[in-house]
Amino acid sequence: EPEEIVARIGTLFGPRPLDGVRALVTAGPTREAIDPVRYISNHSSGKQGYAVASALAAAGAQVTLISGPVSLASPPGVERINVVSARDMHDAVIARCAGAAIFVGVAAVADYRPDDPAPQKIKKRSDQAAPTIDLIENPDIIAAVAARADRPFVVGFAAETQNTLEHARQKLTRKRLDMIAVNDVSDRSIGFESDSNAVTIITASGCERLERASKAEIARAIVDRICAVGHFPSHGRAAAIPSQ
Ligand code: PMT
Repeated sequence: EPEEIVARIGTLFGPRPLDGVRALVTAGPTREAIDPVRYISNHSSGKQGYAVASALAAAGAQVTLISGPVSLASPPGVERINVVSARDMHDAVIARCAGAAIFVGVAAVADYRPDDPAPQKIKKRSDQAAPTIDLIENPDIIAAVAARADRPFVVGFAAETQNTLEHARQKLTRKRLDMIAVNDVSDRSIGFESDSNAVTIITASGCERLERASKAEIARAIVDRICAVGHFPSHGRAAAIPSQ
């Protein structure tokens, strides 16, 4: 496929800034079962997370993409692990964390799940009160990664609908992230499902606005910033001039 040809051509012009670096990326939504046929989820399509995985791979990283249920093809050269729920995603991430130098959490992980999913389909009973669903908190995946003694460089995303910068800064601090990219998902032309995005990248030392662009361009810009701020083994090597 053309995407694969382009990705392979990229490998001919090494060394690249993230050669030899392992990266983990989460993408897409999670689904939290209510019963065997119903779930709580959100509008994440996986497009932004897949674009980040692709950009990291193009920069030379060995990428594992832990993906919630989406209908996208895997980016070329990227290992993909499919998961469904937040707990599945947490376990898949933690199992692969050791040795990773970069973690980018783009997934829209459900903060809560039904406490006691029904083992059989819940039947409609018009003669009874509507059922209620008790929720309990899911594990915070990115916070668990950032709390590890061998923590990688940790980048979060924040999907906000109001006070975007303030909420994102709070998440940067509370989850102990190195960087966070916040998008305003109240604007339906960016963020969830759209092919475009616009984000503000925040670190402890300041913030930078990336105006509306394709998710692939936003992903490349974020990877550039990760390379500039993080200290990775092969970062800083000049690209070799290809032989004629
Ligand atoms: O998938 P698309 O349609 O392309 O849309 C892209 C996107 C809008 C989903 C993406 O750009 C984005 O903003 N992703 C983060 C969405 C989100 O749920 O943010 P949050 O503010 O709830 O979470 C903050 C950070 O904590 C995120 O990095 C999230 O992955 C992480 N998190 C959240 C909850 C949890 N239990 N575990 C986590 O790791």
